[in-house]
Amino acid sequence: MSNIKKRNKFNIKKANILKNENEKPAEKVSINKGLPLRLLSRVVVIISLLIVVYYTTKNNVQTFAKQTELLPGKGQIVDCSSEYLKEVDKYEGCAPKYCKRFVTDKVISLRETEELLKIAQKGLKYGGSSGGASILDLHSGALSKGRHFVNVYKINELKNLFTQEDFNIFRAVKEKIKYTIAHHFGVQPNKIYLTHPTFFSEITSKPAVTVHDEYWHPHVDKETYKSFHYTTLLYLGDYNIDFKGGRFVFIDEKYNSTIEPRKGRLSMFTSGGENYHYVEKVTSGVRYAITISFTCDQKFSISDPSLDNYYD
Ligand SMILES: *[C@@H]1O[C@H](CO)[C@@H](O)[C@H](O)[C@H]1NC(C)=O
Repeated sequence: MSNIKKRNKFNIKKANILKNENEKPAEKVSINKGLPLRLLSRVVVIISLLIVVYYTTKNNVQTFAKQTELLPGKGQIVDCSSEYLKEVDKYEGCAPKYCKRFVTDKVISLRETEELLKIAQKGLKYGGSSGGASILDLHSGALSKGRHFVNVYKINELKNLFTQEDFNIFRAVKEKIKYTIAHHFGVQPNKIYLTHPTFFSEITSKPAVTVHDEYWHPHVDKETYKSFHYTTLLYLGDYNIDFKGGRFVFIDEKYNSTIEPRKGRLSMFTSGGENYHYVEKVTSGVRYAITISFTCDQKFSISDPSLDNYYD
């Protein structure tokens, strides 16, 4: 006890001495008749900050979500495009409190992600675009094959390729995502509906053959898919480990910001003009992701993919 006290006293003395030492040089310099040193140093700090800001924004690309980071949740509010607001305002309980982007690595588990990856690979094994981008749409059954699409649910040899467990996983993940949107965008979970298309994507570095392979064009989801109001992407692989290139890029006025795919990373954003984006070309490896999107308009709502798809 007394030992600690002594030590404290000693520290205080030492601190006092340091303080005195610090004061001395300041006194000396203030003799200077020109600009006061304090003002001068502030000017220097401000100018260097401006230089840093100038060069980092000149650099134009910010990393919003790094692959090496495990993000509990990171969001950015953006101004809704007026078109998006006008449309979404018609649906009570579905209009977001704010337009935004939100990334989290803590909602979908690694196990769920791996199950989904297996489903993707199991289906895509029977397809494959002649260009670099293939999709498997679990709702419609559309699977890229060569320059076209086939329906996995209508091919005799592929009957029962997907099992009840596969559909269960999809549904569990979809439900989690729906509640996560509701939470982070301030909407009612029973007022947003799964919508078409909901699909796995597989991207390789093969050159494009048809327009379906050209995923890298900047676009607004709401323009590509009229029914979308909330877009979500779940990454099934790691940027720089499973593939190179293939970062997701939001295009903003001042600078662009990237999301580096990470296994189990969920990215969610409002689908309007406020979230103009593209995906960089994949330069090597294979990039897997799943797109699960929601609409405010019940007439574009789709049922969860299920075994019924084989019999429709
Ligand atoms: C953002 O990306 C787009 C599309 O590649 C590009 O045209 C634009 O110059 C980039 N913006 C900035 C500020 O770098």
